[in-house]
Amino acid sequence: MLGAQWGDEGKGKAIDQLAAHSDWAVRFQGGNNAGHTIVVGDTTLKMHLLPSGITSHNCKLVLGCGMVIDPWVLDRELKQWADLTGERPEGDRLFISERAAVILPFHRYYDSAEELVGTTGRGIGPAYRDRTERVGIRFVDLPKAMADADYIADISERMNKQLATAGVTEKIEPGDLLADMSWISGRFSPAIAATGPMLSEALERGESVLLEGAQGAMLDIDQGTYPFVTSSVTCRANATHGAGIHPGHIEQCFGITKAYTTRVGNGPFPSELSLEEGPGKQMSEVGHEFGTTTGRPRRTGWLDLVALNESQRLNGYSGLVVTKLDVLGGLDELKICVAYDLDGEKIQHLPASADDLSRCKPIYEEHPGFPALSAEDWIKLASDSRKGSGLDELPADIRNYLGRIEDLTGIPVVSVGVGPDRLASIASTDGPFDVQLNEATF
Ligand code: IMP
Repeated sequence: MLGAQWGDEGKGKAIDQLAAHSDWAVRFQGGNNAGHTIVVGDTTLKMHLLPSGITSHNCKLVLGCGMVIDPWVLDRELKQWADLTGERPEGDRLFISERAAVILPFHRYYDSAEELVGTTGRGIGPAYRDRTERVGIRFVDLPKAMADADYIADISERMNKQLATAGVTEKIEPGDLLADMSWISGRFSPAIAATGPMLSEALERGESVLLEGAQGAMLDIDQGTYPFVTSSVTCRANATHGAGIHPGHIEQCFGITKAYTTRVGNGPFPSELSLEEGPGKQMSEVGHEFGTTTGRPRRTGWLDLVALNESQRLNGYSGLVVTKLDVLGGLDELKICVAYDLDGEKIQHLPASADDLSRCKPIYEEHPGFPALSAEDWIKLASDSRKGSGLDELPADIRNYLGRIEDLTGIPVVSVGVGPDRLASIASTDGPFDVQLNEATF
């Protein structure tokens, strides 16, 4: 299950719906730069690290080897979960890959100096950089590191040099670093495991595994709008690798896209609209488009089919989940960006250069809008759709809009989100989202 745009597509809700029928939910890249919001009845859960499958007690959870993990954030989320449910899943149904990289205070401090990309400031890039430089610390490395005072002194010195060069005033004391490592090791040792083999064995037993992407295809370090991207491979090719299993296991791959587009942080965004007025303002206000992780307002724009088709090229989706359709209700007309004009030339791909992409002007196709409905009316429509009609329950203008997305991407729409609640989804009758949605499972 992957983000098909620039992240924040509403993966949490879709994963929550499928997890009820999965044995495992696995994060495979990124860290707490991600933010998932799941709404079940009156309860809103905001999570950054814990896989969204946590809401289903049958579902075992893995933080995979491709991740960078901030142990303090994980501790906070686990405390919140325990306060809400009384459950302490660590080591019982939550496992942390021994190969996952540990985010330390150094990484957060170093990321705070970053200005170009507008990162989430959570230390993600610096932790991946250390891993690539082969100086990072993985969970499995903690006991050896803690036993070597010279090593702790050396890495503290390296960190302090780098912080000073970046103009950051915070410093790393070797004693604090050692204390941090001891706490991390003690706190999480019951959950640290060889999760790749664990998942492989589960698959051999016939269990089902849901791989949960973070960020989105356009933020992929290799294939996204570089340098305005995150530091990991967010696409399908890394989904199994970052979980420690082979790609042959993938049976289906779902892309999640909003019915429009949002982006947080800097970087080109051809179909961007004004947040001050008109449809862009409606998307922002009705869609509550503020980053789950940083609270920053998300930039908004029309659905960009050029980007979505790039995302399809990279991920080969078997189905598309279109989220937040309700947000567009009440607009007179809807636009879909079907191509770009780059210096007078019509193109249908994303230029690799951010400068070129920033000069791209959107070429739109227009469609009639549809009336706004109340949250209750959308939930009623969704509940009627579960009596057998599926997507046919939607009014004709909406079906035409979705049909056009299907035609232009070649991907069947399998589910449509019409509100934040778990029950506010309309699924195609022959897809995997045509499942019984419960009011709450926790
Ligand atoms: P980083 O991942 O914190 O290094 O940030 C790099 C870029 O990715 C910035 O533009 C962030 O705003 C963006 N980003 C990172 N995680 C997410 C996410 O989960 N949703 C949307 N944007 C994200």
